[in-house]
Amino acid sequence: MKAIVQDTYGTSEVMQFRDVGMPTPKPGEVLIQVRASAIDAGVWHLMTGLPYMIRPALGLRRPRNPIRGTDVAGVVEAVGADVTEFKPGDEVFGTCWAAFAEYVTTKPAKLTRKPENLTYEQAAAIPVSATTALNALRDKGEVQPGQRVLVIGAGGGVGSYAVQLAKMFGADVTGLCSTSKMDFVRSLGADEVLDYTKDDFTRDEFDLILDIAGNRPLNHVRKALSARGTLVIVGGENGGKILGGTQWMLKAPLLSLFTSHRVRGVISLANKKDLEVLRDLAEAGKIVPAIDRVHPLSEVPQAVAYAQAGKAKGKIAITV
Ligand SMILES: NC(=O)c1ccc[n+]([C@@H]2O[C@H](COP(=O)([O-])OP(=O)(O)OC[C@H]3O[C@@H](n4cnc5c(N)ncnc54)[C@H](OP(=O)(O)O)[C@@H]3O)[C@@H](O)[C@H]2O)c1
Repeated sequence: MKAIVQDTYGTSEVMQFRDVGMPTPKPGEVLIQVRASAIDAGVWHLMTGLPYMIRPALGLRRPRNPIRGTDVAGVVEAVGADVTEFKPGDEVFGTCWAAFAEYVTTKPAKLTRKPENLTYEQAAAIPVSATTALNALRDKGEVQPGQRVLVIGAGGGVGSYAVQLAKMFGADVTGLCSTSKMDFVRSLGADEVLDYTKDDFTRDEFDLILDIAGNRPLNHVRKALSARGTLVIVGGENGGKILGGTQWMLKAPLLSLFTSHRVRGVISLANKKDLEVLRDLAEAGKIVPAIDRVHPLSEVPQAVAYAQAGKAKGKIAITV
């Protein structure tokens, strides 16, 4: 089968489009014919092997698994022994470890039925980013109707779902993004959009802030929180090559001890239960994947470079 393979860590040039062996499903696994995948920030973390703290799990000098791609939508090709939940021909979406390929295996617990009203590309744009936004808002942020919510990084993959989900939960939503993404964030349903190159969001006050961009000191972001407000740290790329921002996640519970604010970090892993919630929301038209562009499998390197440059409005999908 064709796949995008990397033999070493590095920039998108390390990714090569070439032939590899077909995976076979082990007991308890599902073999999927991949129809679409998507890019998320995790793809380029795994591609570069940065921050270094992820390397012990991935391979110290080179990736043990040479194929990237976490989001998947496709058709079940075969099932291993003990799998009763899915059968060949089922249309599914979810997560796996090597979706930039024509076939991939994964566990049934990471899959569910694909939303009927979405294309494979739209469905593949949901799992990682939308689950993260859902976990940040519902589980860590405990968002309530009528609350004022600020989404920092509203124009990206996670942010595009955070804006839509916060509106769905009944919040009053402000999105913070660069000038070129303001119209896009407005189109997602944000009540207000601030341009971080001109506007000072700390002049305002929010009950809940999702910091997806993570580019500012936590004490600066907290200036915009109401007295008993909640800051949820989702991500950011300014944390250095060793820890990559995880230090803010670790600091979060400590900060909460010394202030009236609740500060929480999110580590989101897509799971069947949340995928079902998101599928139902998609089928009800409550969330719509925002796709900036679609690339064929052979163009994954270009797609990753575009995403890494921070240019994408919402998600980039890969068609297989
Ligand atoms: N904790 C978890 O479980 C989890 C899960 C998924 C992702 N993440 C992390 O979340 C982060 C975002 O992921 P993503 O997939 O959404 O990436 P993305 O699609 O690249 O989006 C990031 C967004 O941040 C915006 N941004 C950059 N600098 C900013 C600033 N100073 N202020 C406001 N916005 C700024 C970028 O656009 P503009 O600058 O043009 O507005 C971009 O739209 C990454 O660090 C990722 O590793 C964490």
